[in-house]
Amino acid sequence: MTEPGPAIVTVAFGEFPLARMRRNRFDAWTRRMVCENRLSVDDLIWPLFVVDGENRREPVASMPGVERLSADLIVKAAGEAKALGIPAVAVFPYTDPALKTPDAKEALNPDNLVCRSVRAVKEAHGDALGVICDVALDPYNSDGHDGLVENGRVLNDETVDVLCKQAVVQARAGCDIVAPSDMMDGRIRAVRQALDAEGFQHVRILSYAAKYASGFYGPFRDAVGSGGVLKGDKKTYQMDPANSDEAIREVAMDVAEGADMIMVKPGMPYLDIVRRIKDAFAMPTFAYQVSGEYAMIKAAAANGWLDETAAMMESLLAFKRAGADGVLTYYAPVAAKLLGEA
Ligand code: PBG
Repeated sequence: MTEPGPAIVTVAFGEFPLARMRRNRFDAWTRRMVCENRLSVDDLIWPLFVVDGENRREPVASMPGVERLSADLIVKAAGEAKALGIPAVAVFPYTDPALKTPDAKEALNPDNLVCRSVRAVKEAHGDALGVICDVALDPYNSDGHDGLVENGRVLNDETVDVLCKQAVVQARAGCDIVAPSDMMDGRIRAVRQALDAEGFQHVRILSYAAKYASGFYGPFRDAVGSGGVLKGDKKTYQMDPANSDEAIREVAMDVAEGADMIMVKPGMPYLDIVRRIKDAFAMPTFAYQVSGEYAMIKAAAANGWLDETAAMMESLLAFKRAGADGVLTYYAPVAAKLLGEA
């Protein structure tokens, strides 16, 4: 005799043959009643690319609809985000290639592109909008790597020292959330200590905790101009896409070191990781719908192969279903407008 299956199976297929799943889908109002997950504007974070100049916008070829904006236009975009109810923007720089050096010292310049735009956004919009900054050296490094390179190796502890200074410089500019995206070991504890020592106890750390060495970052590297300069790949510090248990250890360490929020990146191909991490740690957990995911939807839509709006909104909802508390997405303003109209 076989054991009775779980109650849920018995109810659906066994003792109650009168069950019909479609009854709850019959009307729009019942579908609303049984809906388990919803996307809201509060779930959206908008990544922005800043470039030198004034009133300047440059399209990013591999990301149709995304532009690099000069700082004054970043302020306007941030205003648009605020008006739409988007809680936070993330600012990434396209650094003048002439300023890229092996020691990435432009990362510590209090007047670099990121700091200038953060100051301008905070002056214009105050506390109504959060500003997030990446902590990593790739936009400033002539090797295109997230850390300092010596004899072809990315140095860990020496890089962490620079990242701490970078985080403090960003905090001084008014950044609310620093987001270490470098995947060096021990950086969350070090950055926390550095921020606290400078009186920035309130500055939050969103750790790119489970960040994979992914093929989906290509268009982003075009957008920040680090793609052409990158020597080799990032496999000695970013995670192997084959691994899932390792993500648990990465997140455990970052949580123990003081991360306030954690991120999984890329997004859609890694929803299993989002779910495992949310279940294991119950931390505020974010996913990054990265540039390559955006580009895929855009390209298919441009060919008439996908309904862009449907595919985009479904992809964003899927993050919520997987357990994410929010999504970094280049679609943020488009999705926010649609949610506002619904
Ligand atoms: C750099 C960084 C990357 C992204 C965010 N921060 C690229 C990389 O690690 O090479 C990718 C974001 C995207 O693809 O949209 N530290």
